[in-house]
Amino acid sequence: MTNRIPENLLEDILSRVDIVELISGYIPLKKAGRNFKACCPFHREKTPSFMVSPERQIYHCFGCNESGNAFKFLMAYERFDFPEAVEFLARKTGVILPEKEKRTQENISITTQLFKINELACAYYQKSLDSETGSSARGYFLKRGIPEEGIKLFKLGFAEDKWDGLINYLRSKGVGLALLEKAGLAIAKDRGGFYDRFRNRAIFPIFDIKSRVLGFGARLLDETKGSTAAKYINSPESPVYTKGKNLYGLNLSKEAIRECDSVIMVEGYMDFIIPYTYGIHNIVASLGTALTEEQAGLLKRFTQNVVMVYDADAAGQMATLRALDIFIEEGMNVRIATLPAGMDPDLYMKKNGLASFKEMVNSAKSFFEYKLSVMKSRYNTKEIEERAMVAKEMLISISKFKDSIVKSEYIKLLAQELNVNEEALLEEINKIKGIKAPYNGQNRTVAKAPFNPTESLLIRLMLEESELIDSIRKRLEPTDFQDERTKKLVTVMFDLFSQGKTLEPNKIINYLDDSNSLELICKSAFKDDAYPEDKEKVVEDCIKLIKSKRLSHIKQRLQEEIRIAEQNKDEEKLHRLKDEFCELLKKGR
Ligand code: CTP
Ligand code: MN
Repeated sequence: MTNRIPENLLEDILSRVDIVELISGYIPLKKAGRNFKACCPFHREKTPSFMVSPERQIYHCFGCNESGNAFKFLMAYERFDFPEAVEFLARKTGVILPEKEKRTQENISITTQLFKINELACAYYQKSLDSETGSSARGYFLKRGIPEEGIKLFKLGFAEDKWDGLINYLRSKGVGLALLEKAGLAIAKDRGGFYDRFRNRAIFPIFDIKSRVLGFGARLLDETKGSTAAKYINSPESPVYTKGKNLYGLNLSKEAIRECDSVIMVEGYMDFIIPYTYGIHNIVASLGTALTEEQAGLLKRFTQNVVMVYDADAAGQMATLRALDIFIEEGMNVRIATLPAGMDPDLYMKKNGLASFKEMVNSAKSFFEYKLSVMKSRYNTKEIEERAMVAKEMLISISKFKDSIVKSEYIKLLAQELNVNEEALLEEINKIKGIKAPYNGQNRTVAKAPFNPTESLLIRLMLEESELIDSIRKRLEPTDFQDERTKKLVTVMFDLFSQGKTLEPNKIINYLDDSNSLELICKSAFKDDAYPEDKEKVVEDCIKLIKSKRLSHIKQRLQEEIRIAEQNKDEEKLHRLKDEFCELLKKGR
């Protein structure tokens, strides 16, 4: 999880950062004894159970169990990935990180240069829009309902009706043709030479989440009938632009998406721009490409809740059905709003206004209701075979749910809706490829077991008094612990200790790749109820208890094995097991 950034630098950053100061930049913290507390920003609550420890430099919510150090907080709150959190705090603390080694020096300079070129091109197109020749495009934007402020905000532009307008401009800025071609802005001619990719079109720059220009979409200004020119021409993929990894508008909408805890997903540039202009700010556009897992993952950093509003045509319906399964697979909650025939979000907003748009979004259907109604319109459910087809189509989506309870409830519902046998549906869902374990329709709930109190106490003691670790380590192995979560944590702690590292919880966290052990360490570190003064004695008792638990566990297992060996009349094995058992009894004394 350390992602190739040297651990000592991570620790350096953590030593310089103050988690109380960091978190109070986001939420108000109140002093509470040695700690600070607040209403948890990660779940809804009225009384504060979110604790921050200035001594330990960690946080833990006793309500929802979200825990961690400064990096984890940024990952949870800002939805940064780990490297982003590290870079953010490195900048804040003045720690200098090595260049990302993965990329070669050459690659770094190419992506930086491509971003720079795109930036220049974007400014050039914007400038052209203000020129005399740009008035056609400006008029076009206004006609389509984008006001002046919108033109600025979305950095819309105009590509002149010339073969080399941009090429000449960028060459005058010292940009080489090879790079221009790499950026997708210039196209090589068969006979040598280059020409501008975008000519006489309205320009929509495409930004990444950090507002860097990745590429452009260029729209025809007038759709003369019979013209075969594509309505939109887009930048090709380049070292900085991968279509399936980006979502149009997310740079502008991410805050609103987090605040609303939901996102509206549309297809086109205009379907983003017009609702945004009307005040719908939690919106992104997939730009007409099929939704990818990466795009769903990108959204998941801000919300779990998606409302899809795709065009009301056959293509929109196909794209919606495919996207549904991806969102479900990602564990997200997806609903679908349907527009009147022939409409798209742009037209709908302009025709019906904001209130009606919101209503339309609010009345979005569940995946189940939507897909079932689409399937019922495609098949004649009065016919048995066709009804089976509908069932199978539905089961494909249902199979994507990870939660068995949800899955079984949908199967029940499907059986009712189609008036088919539930058992038969269960049988069919197990035939679907890509489902890992056979699904038997049983509800399997995964309630988290509470942490073992003895084991947790020992963890707490080790955190409070690192001198105790050595003696504990000499007498207990990680495998002596019963709880998997403790086992993992103790392994890491012993490891770090043997490397001579200090065992501060906020730094140990960097080495944990498991959220359960993370929760354990934070929870233990916040425990401040009293225990007997004599720590040595407490440790002694804990070790004894853990050892005896372990022993009785092994005993139980041996007894079970002995029972089986007796049943099978396996004399040799029985002999060996009984010897083992005697050894164990001796040790236990
Ligand atoms: N698209 C594209 N190339 C095309 C047509 C469409 O890249 N030839 C992409 C664009 O990103 C477009 C989206 O698919 O925004 C949706 O297509 P469509 O619904 O046809 O376009 P609209 O956004 O409705 O375009 P407009 O409103 O400008 O006519
Ligand atoms: Mn449209």
